[in-house]
Amino acid sequence: MHANGLGLVEQFLACPVCGLAMAVDDRAVRCERGHTFDIARQGYVSLFGGGRRANTGDTPAMVQARADFLSAGHYAPIAQAVSDAIPADAEGLAVDLAGGTGYYLSAVLERHPQLVGLDIDLSTYALRRAAGAHDRLAAVAADVWQPLPVQDAAARVVLSIFGPRNAPEIRRILPETGRLIVVTPTPAHLGQLVGPLGMIAVDALKQQRLDEQLAAFQRLSQTPVEYTVQLVHRDILNDVLMGPSAHHVDADALRAAVGRLPEPTAVTISVSVAVYAPR
Ligand SMILES: C[S@@+](CC[C@H](N)C(=O)[O-])C[C@H]1O[C@@H](n2cnc3c(N)ncnc32)[C@H](O)[C@@H]1O
Ligand SMILES: [Zn+2]
Repeated sequence: MHANGLGLVEQFLACPVCGLAMAVDDRAVRCERGHTFDIARQGYVSLFGGGRRANTGDTPAMVQARADFLSAGHYAPIAQAVSDAIPADAEGLAVDLAGGTGYYLSAVLERHPQLVGLDIDLSTYALRRAAGAHDRLAAVAADVWQPLPVQDAAARVVLSIFGPRNAPEIRRILPETGRLIVVTPTPAHLGQLVGPLGMIAVDALKQQRLDEQLAAFQRLSQTPVEYTVQLVHRDILNDVLMGPSAHHVDADALRAAVGRLPEPTAVTISVSVAVYAPR
């Protein structure tokens, strides 16, 4: 069982039912009032406070495609930029919201040995991988649109990378000295693929709109990360299947469209890495 990471973050967890402190043993995470959440065989724990779940996050196929794509290293410069954005002396808790398979959080933990990591995601398929991704990483299933199972002002760093953002909850778990790091695609991201493959154009979230959404924070910096990768057909398929377009394309039509692209195809990766502090 990979419960090591859970033990390292227990002091920061809050019961999703009653908000009290939690303790972790080999089998379960329990609050002071006795609400008990069993640790899954694969090392993650589900911390839901009740109520219906709107969805279950990424499917096994999406998670597989994402893991394959990320392991090829195409987004390594993004992981590097995120790690660079964190102060070298940062210690304590780093929370990755909708952190998926733990790819970015693992890179951050590798670079910052004084941090322990908490990956919160809805997809238990992603969390199975995350639980084994790094020995200082804890994988927790929870819905980022619900109160997070994290104590007030407990996080030194919050990461939000290509995922949904719940600004009031992020603000609640960050102290004044904490930092929020947000990665968003620019309109140029994957530009060569969007048209030919009928992908949903990446959410060209204007910086202004992001700043509005994050009105409780002030932006300290914003770093563009833009480069070109050479993608073979397999990478291109994974890239489509790991994202929101996966729900909108017919698999055979997609394969055919990918087959018509040059191999390799030069593709622009273009994101913004922004650092925010609570106001
Ligand atoms: C585009 S992926 C990004 C994952 C990761 N940040 C990365 O870049 O590799 C979006 C992630 O959000 C998760 N997700 C979607 N809705 C969620 C929610 N309401 N709460 C928590 N996670 C959610 C999905 O399961 C998926 O892992
Ligand atoms: Zn409780």
